[in-house]
Amino acid sequence: MQSYRITAYPGDGIGQEVTAETLRVLDAVQDGGDFRLEVTRVPWGSDYYRRHGAMVPDDYLEQLAPCDAIFLGAIGDPARIPDHLTLTPLIRIRQRFDQYACVRPARLFPGVRTPLAGKGPEDIDLVVIRENSEGEYVDNGGRFRVGTPDEFAVQTALHTRKGIERILRFGFRMAGARRGHLTMITKSNAQRYGFVLWDQVLEQLRAEYPDIEVAKYHIDAAVMNLVRWPERFDVVVASNLFGDILTDLTGILAGGLGQAPSSNINPERRFPSMFEPVHGSAPDIAGQGIANPTAAILSGANMLRWLGEERAAVAVEQAVEATFAQGHGTPDLGGDLNTQAFTNRILGNLQV
Ligand code: NAD
Ligand code: IPM
Ligand code: MN
Repeated sequence: MQSYRITAYPGDGIGQEVTAETLRVLDAVQDGGDFRLEVTRVPWGSDYYRRHGAMVPDDYLEQLAPCDAIFLGAIGDPARIPDHLTLTPLIRIRQRFDQYACVRPARLFPGVRTPLAGKGPEDIDLVVIRENSEGEYVDNGGRFRVGTPDEFAVQTALHTRKGIERILRFGFRMAGARRGHLTMITKSNAQRYGFVLWDQVLEQLRAEYPDIEVAKYHIDAAVMNLVRWPERFDVVVASNLFGDILTDLTGILAGGLGQAPSSNINPERRFPSMFEPVHGSAPDIAGQGIANPTAAILSGANMLRWLGEERAAVAVEQAVEATFAQGHGTPDLGGDLNTQAFTNRILGNLQV
């Protein structure tokens, strides 16, 4: 039987709660008997920091490297530890394992309400492909004359031709497998070096993909258009920071952050890929047992798909859809089920 080594990294706050539910679903879907997941849980996160003075052990990347996939809950305890300390290891994982394609689908399921008036499931079905290895997230900069009135900080984004080309090609291929439409989002009217390079690389590539219809927006117009015309978007490609911002928006368009899955993919499979919800540790609801586990569970389904277990992935997605179609939901969706009770409904709908 095929078996896969999974590292589960639940992290902090609701990250722990939604990871526990995802592992229950992943356990149940193995009952089909086709494959086995060997799950290793790592205790890294803000509690680990309080005990060891670091968010992760020194050799955490070496520990992760041999696994087939990483499942991450969420990290962050912003009331107690500054976010730029807690989140650095997460960004390092994405960069060191060259998980350059961050895939964030936003699909409104029947039975779930979008905050957009007059829009329904047929209007909201898009995927944001976020460049995940460079751009605004490179660790490049410094602070000078610290603590003096003349203090200044420099933070430089880095956009490489190779990095832009590979993420655009990834987007073109995904558009080809979907509705044949690609939108690139930049801010090349003001960021005159990096994003002009994005424009030029897009122009050079589009001739190779004659069947794909291409649109381009600056980020300001894009956020407006996503709200008024979500149906015009199929595959969206954006830089690291813009992709981050856009996917909280597309998450809420599809019902909420509790529904928004994310995959950090190394397409060449040289390194493990990582699967996690778009959302964070949600300190405002952590510990109450009311987090919506859907984003994490759908991220788990995408992990199964990436591992080659398409049938199991579809089974999980269908169980989630059936649960919404039956009208169930957690409080963020206006429902009355807690995290575990909602997962129980999904498990009840799971056909393996
Ligand atoms: P957040 O995503 O944690 O929460 C934003 C809002 O959405 C909150 O009101 C929260 O209750 C709600 N929400 C999020 N997920 C939900 C779910 N599954 N079910 C129901 N409601 C949900 O963003 P934030 O509050 O800005 O960040 C909190 C912490 O998480 C910070 O430390 C931040 O840096 C960190 N963070 C981590 C990740 C990650 O680990 N991948 C992602 C984003 C934010
Ligand atoms: C996300 C998160 C992270 C990001 C933070 C926590 C560093 O917001 O995955 O969307 O900006 O990538
Ligand atoms: Mn984000």
